[in-house]
Amino acid sequence: MEIFKTKTALRAFLEPLKASGLKIALVPTMGALHNGHISLIKLAQQNADVIICSIFVNPTQFTDPKDLEKYPRPIEHDLAMLEEAGCNGVFMPDVKEMYPEKEDWHIDLGKAEFLLEGEFRRGHYQGVTQIVNKLFDAVKPDVAMFGQKDFQQVLMIKNMLKHFNLPITIITCPIIREEDGLAMSSRNIHLSEKDRKNALVLSKSLQFVIDHFNEYSLSQLEEKAEALYAGIEGVELDYFTIANGETLEPAKSKEEGNLVALVAAKVGTTRLIDNMIIK
Ligand code: PAJ
Repeated sequence: MEIFKTKTALRAFLEPLKASGLKIALVPTMGALHNGHISLIKLAQQNADVIICSIFVNPTQFTDPKDLEKYPRPIEHDLAMLEEAGCNGVFMPDVKEMYPEKEDWHIDLGKAEFLLEGEFRRGHYQGVTQIVNKLFDAVKPDVAMFGQKDFQQVLMIKNMLKHFNLPITIITCPIIREEDGLAMSSRNIHLSEKDRKNALVLSKSLQFVIDHFNEYSLSQLEEKAEALYAGIEGVELDYFTIANGETLEPAKSKEEGNLVALVAAKVGTTRLIDNMIIK
């Protein structure tokens, strides 16, 4: 597995491979890798010949400086996991390499930018698309892998692709969970033992909607799911919603084609997100 710290070195590695007709996949990450990330690498291997994983904790997408500061960076562990998974190259630039000078970035990502995560983390998706565009430009991949775990992020990246007319195929990968249902996340290591137990309410409330979808109306489903959070000390719900999976607007009817339940909550001091596709 090759390691690259600069775009120049990465491009020099990729050029002959592309020239010989090999298909390149990019798996963008911020490191602190877990099996969710590794599942993206595995799916990439089924869809391309050469897999590049990027590890870069992108400062422009953090809306809380403390969150950026405490973001875990276990780089040796990450590299060992990628090596074991059979990843071909790791791009791990420093901040100067990706942001050599101060720059303004703003693109129109549509109305959905300001809903859900966009409401609680203003400007987050501008930062995400800013860095993903830079990573796309450095790798020029044929395909790029993203997790359904960050449902809104996938939508925003697809909107960015349309905006710039980029010829990259986005593959959305299913959410990998712990045995008890908690969605894997780099932030889970911040959970205390009590938080870890409390955090199960996220996946349970989503599963409730899936299991009882035919029994209740949309508003009853939301109400009953939200009620599961009442009285859990140390858990603060930001939103629980059943939304249209294309617009992220609250679903108006159960007959809509593309429905997803999404949740964000603070568990202790850690903010977690999760979702389940209803149909
Ligand atoms: P990060 O949170 O490291 O996630 C990297 C990728 O792994 C994302 O596409 C995310 O959706 C996916 N992922 C995370 N947890 C997962 C799980 N439990 N199951 C399946 N996939 C999972 O998302 C980012 O980094 C950044 O915003 C990034 C796109 C790299 C831009 O900086």
